[in-house]
Amino acid sequence: MARDLKKLISEMTLEEKAGLCSGADFWHTKAVERLGIPAVMVSDGPHGLRKQDQEGDHLGINDSIVAVCFPAACATASSFDTEMIHHMGDVIGQECQAEDLSVVLGPAVNIKRSPLCGRNFEYFSEDPFLAGKMAAAYISGVQKWDVGTSIKHFAANNQEHRRMSVNDEVSERTLREIYFPAFEEAVKKAQPKTVMCSYNKINGTYSSDNQWLLTQVLRRDWGFKGYVMTDWGAVDDRVQGIRAGLDLEMPASNGENDRKIVEAVQSGMLDEKLVDQAAERILEVIFSYVDHRHPEAVFDRDADHEKAVEIETQCAVLLQNNGVLPLKASDRIAYIGEFADKPRYQGGGSSHINSSKVTSALSSAQRKGRKVTYVKGFSADADVEDEEEIRKAVAAAVEADVAVIFAGLPDSFESEGYDRDNMKLPECQNRMIEAVLKVQPNTVVILHNGSPVECPWAERTAGILEMYLGGQGVGEATDQLLYGEVNPSGHLAESFPLHLEDNPSYLFFPGDGHTARYAEGVFVGYRYYDTKKLPVRWAFGHGLSYTTFAYDHMKVSADHMTGDSILTVSVDVKNTGSVKGKEVVQLYVRDLNKTAERPLKELKGFAKTELEPGETKTVQMQICARDLSYFEERLGDWYAPSGDYELLIGSASDDIRCSGRISFKTEKLLPLKVAGDTTIGELMSDPRTAQTVQKMMQEAGKDSPLTQSSSDAGQEAVSDKMMQEMMAGMPLKSLVSFGMMNLEQMEGLIAMLNQSL
Ligand code: BGC
Repeated sequence: MARDLKKLISEMTLEEKAGLCSGADFWHTKAVERLGIPAVMVSDGPHGLRKQDQEGDHLGINDSIVAVCFPAACATASSFDTEMIHHMGDVIGQECQAEDLSVVLGPAVNIKRSPLCGRNFEYFSEDPFLAGKMAAAYISGVQKWDVGTSIKHFAANNQEHRRMSVNDEVSERTLREIYFPAFEEAVKKAQPKTVMCSYNKINGTYSSDNQWLLTQVLRRDWGFKGYVMTDWGAVDDRVQGIRAGLDLEMPASNGENDRKIVEAVQSGMLDEKLVDQAAERILEVIFSYVDHRHPEAVFDRDADHEKAVEIETQCAVLLQNNGVLPLKASDRIAYIGEFADKPRYQGGGSSHINSSKVTSALSSAQRKGRKVTYVKGFSADADVEDEEEIRKAVAAAVEADVAVIFAGLPDSFESEGYDRDNMKLPECQNRMIEAVLKVQPNTVVILHNGSPVECPWAERTAGILEMYLGGQGVGEATDQLLYGEVNPSGHLAESFPLHLEDNPSYLFFPGDGHTARYAEGVFVGYRYYDTKKLPVRWAFGHGLSYTTFAYDHMKVSADHMTGDSILTVSVDVKNTGSVKGKEVVQLYVRDLNKTAERPLKELKGFAKTELEPGETKTVQMQICARDLSYFEERLGDWYAPSGDYELLIGSASDDIRCSGRISFKTEKLLPLKVAGDTTIGELMSDPRTAQTVQKMMQEAGKDSPLTQSSSDAGQEAVSDKMMQEMMAGMPLKSLVSFGMMNLEQMEGLIAMLNQSL
């Protein structure tokens, strides 16, 4: 049914339209009954539903309906599997229809700038390319069901400390290259029905007031069509918000902001058309849901629980293995640590799910009759050392063939609302691991955490399996992976630095409370570690398997590219081991030109492929000009200089297996305004000025000692290279000082060059 929304809006009073621009309560939009506009409900997610039937809150305090908790984004991103996360979105979309929810509040795609951000567990990655692909796939999965998503928190919400007021000082290039692309990709590829703006300010302006952000970038540059809502309570100046492109205030401000909108229109401060526009965008999304209900949708909690288990098996990352894993059924295993019995599988705050059931690794092992003994060892909730428990754990480890220690961060260590102080595991766990390692070389550590932890014992450990916050099926998934029923295939979506101090934002995070300076710029995560050649514990993209893979025959469909070409990069991947497995093939691009400060390499493609033992498959990925580009602020656009680029294919950012080179030619020219301090080098490298300058140099410099070659000048101390470099770096004004032209000639030259631009 096509609705005439413009007509509907023409029948609404100004008060009704303004009223539609804020919530009726914590979770509903307002109804206008006389016109048949229903109230619809939105609900937190994104890794399951937090539908609050009773009293609402945005911190996960009050109960919500019983739902299924899927792995959090820290885990799902590690799958590098867009089909899988599309499927998860599909399941959640169906659950929303069954529960009458018009929008699920997610995915959350903020970049993991620092391992300390308390909400990293809800975010995908330190890499915007990966985050964007995962987000787009999730969104199209949910929206298949005519349910909306709300990609959040737009933008640069990268810390919890003073998140509601902090001012991020960040360059446009950094925003465009690091903090925006996940949103951009999702908007361009999957058109989320709503976007949630962040609490914080960016360069002095609250996101909710920011016209450049909400209209120029989001709608004009990227083509967003849905409505923008606030994060809960993120309104600053409601009237400016309407002008900026903020449509819906959530939850509501007791009608106060609605009144401000009405008054502003009545006093001529706000154009009523902007209120109509906001109302229309909101109605569009409301009716796209209301008019497309799916009576066939069911929320089958048991079936979805099984899906949660399966998804988590695809997410976990095998970080280290000396061959002790998979465990053998005949092995005697000691499970140590309360997480074996009470896994930490989700984080605190607005994404907290009232889970239908939770499986633990211990209960799964018991159900399957595995030869497992269990010692609590340490608490899952606190950092308390217990000598008696250490003694028991050591005794159990001695008796066993393998000790498996279930470690992780207690709830209180990471959550929405605050950041971590350090990157350490609780001391009681480190002590336990050290004590067990002394008596049992076959010690495996399982990690339950939403963000990297320091692992000082890693090199002495036989195996390490990162389960992240793996959702309510984490225990069963752990069991399947430990015993090789499923082969681990996750790869890290973030770097694990050796020490917190190595992180590029370390000196500036979280700022002074008022300002967070993003002084590391685009050098976030592996973009920094790689470029600095700084060793990390585990690199971005790292992940092991119970089999091995060989890469060969990398091919690029052409060795040359221009602005609109798309190249196909392919590589043969062979399973060289004896069990079936999945490999995450990664494609990185390196700019070999020196035009801008750029990371050593950046992820621009990935593919996950499943291979039987001995099987070979050709994996294909594509790249276009944008993949070679950086954001050039002088152009206000993406720019890749003409020149050479390297394409690198590997299994991790520090495990590159093949590479190739392509050249690129662009028509785009950087803006140039010639002045006395413009250098000869700049002018020589610009096709618009090169010829004139070359000629001028020949003319003017015939007799100048500066343009003589070293042999002519007979000075061994001045090499040709040195002379060339000096000339390239010489500003025009210096030509006067060196007598190559007079002031008048130089001014004439500058005028002439500027004219030719
Ligand atoms: C969070 C959002 C969440 C909202 C509603 C806010 O505090 O930042 O992610 O969707 O609350 O619960």
